[in-house]
Amino acid sequence: MCGIVGYVGPQAAVDVVVGGLRRLEYRGYDSAGVAIVSDGRIELAKKAGKIANLDKLLADHPLPTDGLGIGHTRWATHGAPNDSNAHPHLSRGGRVALVHNGIVENFVELRDELAADGITMVSETDTEVVAQLLGQVVEAGTELADAMRAVCRRLTGAFTLVAVDSHNPELVVAARRNSPLVVGVGDGENFLASDVAAFIEHTREAIELGQNQVVELRSDSVRVTTFDGAPAEVRPYHVDWDLSAAEKDGFDWFMRKEIYEQPKAVADTLLGRHDSKGALTLDEIRISEAELRQIDKIVVIACGTSFYAGLVAKYAIEHWTRIPCEVELASEFRYRDPIVGPSTLVVTISQSGETADTLMAIRHAREQRAKVLAICNTNGSTIPRESDAVIYTHAGPEVGVASTKGFLTQLVACYLLGLYLAQVRGTKFGDEIKATMAELETIPAAIQSLLDNIQPVLDLAAEFADQPSVLFLGRHVGYPVALEGALKLKELAYIHAEGFAAGELKHGPIALIEDQLPVFVVVPPKGRDMLHEKVVSNIQEIRARGARTVVLAEEDDHEVDAVADVLIRLPKVSTLLQPLVATVPLQVFACELASRKGHDVDQPRNLAKSVTVE
Ligand code: AGP
Repeated sequence: MCGIVGYVGPQAAVDVVVGGLRRLEYRGYDSAGVAIVSDGRIELAKKAGKIANLDKLLADHPLPTDGLGIGHTRWATHGAPNDSNAHPHLSRGGRVALVHNGIVENFVELRDELAADGITMVSETDTEVVAQLLGQVVEAGTELADAMRAVCRRLTGAFTLVAVDSHNPELVVAARRNSPLVVGVGDGENFLASDVAAFIEHTREAIELGQNQVVELRSDSVRVTTFDGAPAEVRPYHVDWDLSAAEKDGFDWFMRKEIYEQPKAVADTLLGRHDSKGALTLDEIRISEAELRQIDKIVVIACGTSFYAGLVAKYAIEHWTRIPCEVELASEFRYRDPIVGPSTLVVTISQSGETADTLMAIRHAREQRAKVLAICNTNGSTIPRESDAVIYTHAGPEVGVASTKGFLTQLVACYLLGLYLAQVRGTKFGDEIKATMAELETIPAAIQSLLDNIQPVLDLAAEFADQPSVLFLGRHVGYPVALEGALKLKELAYIHAEGFAAGELKHGPIALIEDQLPVFVVVPPKGRDMLHEKVVSNIQEIRARGARTVVLAEEDDHEVDAVADVLIRLPKVSTLLQPLVATVPLQVFACELASRKGHDVDQPRNLAKSVTVE
């Protein structure tokens, strides 16, 4: 949500900033703007809609190519997505320009105070209040960085702010509380952005900022302090992916590219997880084995697709470790007075590491003295930083708003965690753990073979493009897969889609079944239990009522032949690991169907990749 870029150095700032904003488009936005400090003035261009609209404005009214610059893509919270609410915002008289990501909670009180001083707003945003306050302090003779620190001490809520002063053509100042911000360190130039993708083509050296910090960026220096002006500790790091990872590489959509990257993403996430004797070693765990043995409850907290990864985790973790495991939506967790304490392990799952609901939930859990372990894909992000331990997924940058490789690698990390806990607590024998690890290592090839034979799924998307509604059914770990299949279709194709636990069908949802309604059913592998049989009879029940059944079943499962209108064959894997393969056709189906409908697959309407407000 909202993308921020700042640049100071010898290149044309307007090009660097707009180029950076383009790389942040995936975050979700509805207006864009840029401000350049040149020749003692601030020149501004901002426009509602996509960056193409800003490009057009800049083509008609070019900004200076010298000076330093800041830019912003806005995802509207306070005020409609129009030109005047777009960032940057200027202070009265135009001396200071400011961009902002987050929500300033006390903006009404501050706005009233400014009004009493005769300063009226020209926009409906909370951001302009901060621009005006900052302008007031700077006009009174305070240097920009000191002014920023003083203003930040007065703000409540979540905010990343980046500001420039027309009287100071060498300095960009930023502040960070909760919303993401990283520094890119170049040679004679420096960058600021919500995400390293914005500057990856210029430098791979980054600095992770902490909470409540102010950074002063000049072309040859980076100075970081607290809001009180004391020098602050920061963490420099090297970004281990390059520009090509942030580009489409010949695919029509990032999402499609990311689906095809899944064999590698899964393999990378499994890499280096065991020692020469086959024992699991999770280096980033940072919670002692003694502490892990004391845990009597696990609570998994996440949002959206990551929440569904958590639902799968529950089945695996409880089965392998016998530790009770709850899974909860992060947005609900802290509002219901949850029972967590020192012997609870809270596991958070977040691709971005910046989701505000999840972040607030872990802060609450830590206040209750629970240990927090983050499963995360983004190095340097806030959630792992504020957790006791982290398992990084190694999916590489995920640009499509709809999570694909992010989800599969989260599943892998959950399995690794479950197996590791089983090893530490002795609830599984070493050779059982090794056997599951060996099976996990076959998964990249299994996904690849699915993708090599995906044409029938593409054909199905063409056939179903005009369907107003699609249902998904699953049982056991197939249930979260059904939920994920439905979510993908909702967010990308904008059609009604629901996922149900197949066993719940007869308790209500079966009333929705009507002639020719497409129903996808994830069939568990044929095992020793009755799960398979139950799902086959669920398919019979809906087919008898006219549904068009699309059955996902393992390759030699012929018991489903007679009940499937369409059969999608899955590679043979054990029940608990089946989500790693069963999800893939559903991702491809949603991507293809949305593409055929002419939707923007990478940036679906109203959605943001990184949801940084609660
Ligand atoms: C997935 O396709 C979504 N767009 C969304 O549900 C996402 O999974 C959710 O917002 C959580 O994000 P996170 O993993 O970055 O915390």
